Amino acid sequence: MKRLLIILAVILSMTGCKNKDNHILNNAMTEILPTEIKENPIQLFDQSWALLTAGHAGDLNTMTISWGSLGELWNKPVVTVYVSSDRYTHAFMEREDRFTVAFFPEQYRPALTYLGTHSGRDSDKIAESGLTLEFLASGQPSFAEADMVIEARKIYGAPFTAEGFGDVPASFYASRGMGVHSVYIGEIEHVWVRGREGE
Ligand SMILES: Cc1cc2nc3c(=O)[nH]c(=O)nc-3n(C[C@H](O)[C@H](O)[C@H](O)COP(=O)(O)O)c2cc1C
Repeated sequence: MKRLLIILAVILSMTGCKNKDNHILNNAMTEILPTEIKENPIQLFDQSWALLTAGHAGDLNTMTISWGSLGELWNKPVVTVYVSSDRYTHAFMEREDRFTVAFFPEQYRPALTYLGTHSGRDSDKIAESGLTLEFLASGQPSFAEADMVIEARKIYGAPFTAEGFGDVPASFYASRGMGVHSVYIGEIEHVWVRGREGE
């Protein structure tokens, strides 16, 4: 009997199933529509932060982001992120067709701080952070501790150019001497939530 239950659980986790609201359940997460995201997007990025992850099992990287936005572009729901060319994650964002943006409960802020102050170039920082890497049915990377994960297909990616700078970016980069950020716009393909369903 125990064996049967395990086989059933594996099949459900591979195929997904639907709850009473007809939402798809996957990796113990519930799928919602992009329009059902309740949180204020400025608050989500600026105050909660997120992990931006790109790549596949055995060949991926993640980093903390607090710059980003949710909206609508080219008649698609989109998530936009900004990655400095200095980041190891930048190469993954250039190479990959898809990326994920994962949000976490407050208790994981130390892990996000760690992942935003260490580079995947130097060590297995995900293991060091204590977070648990997992994969969605699509094969896209996620985290067991995340309470909302956005899966996106890259539809635009390019570095900011100095010709387009107004006074704010011009002084930002001048005072820091850091790599200019690239903007990546992703069409939102899926939004998964865990523990936020009743909001
Ligand atoms: C709270 C916080 C927010 C951050 N937001 C961004 C961001 O939006 N874009 C960016 O390029 N770097 C951002 N960073 C910096 C990267 O997370 C950091 O440089 C990281 O170590 C890069 O890792 P990697 O080299 O493995 O890609 C942020 C860092 C922190 C702590």
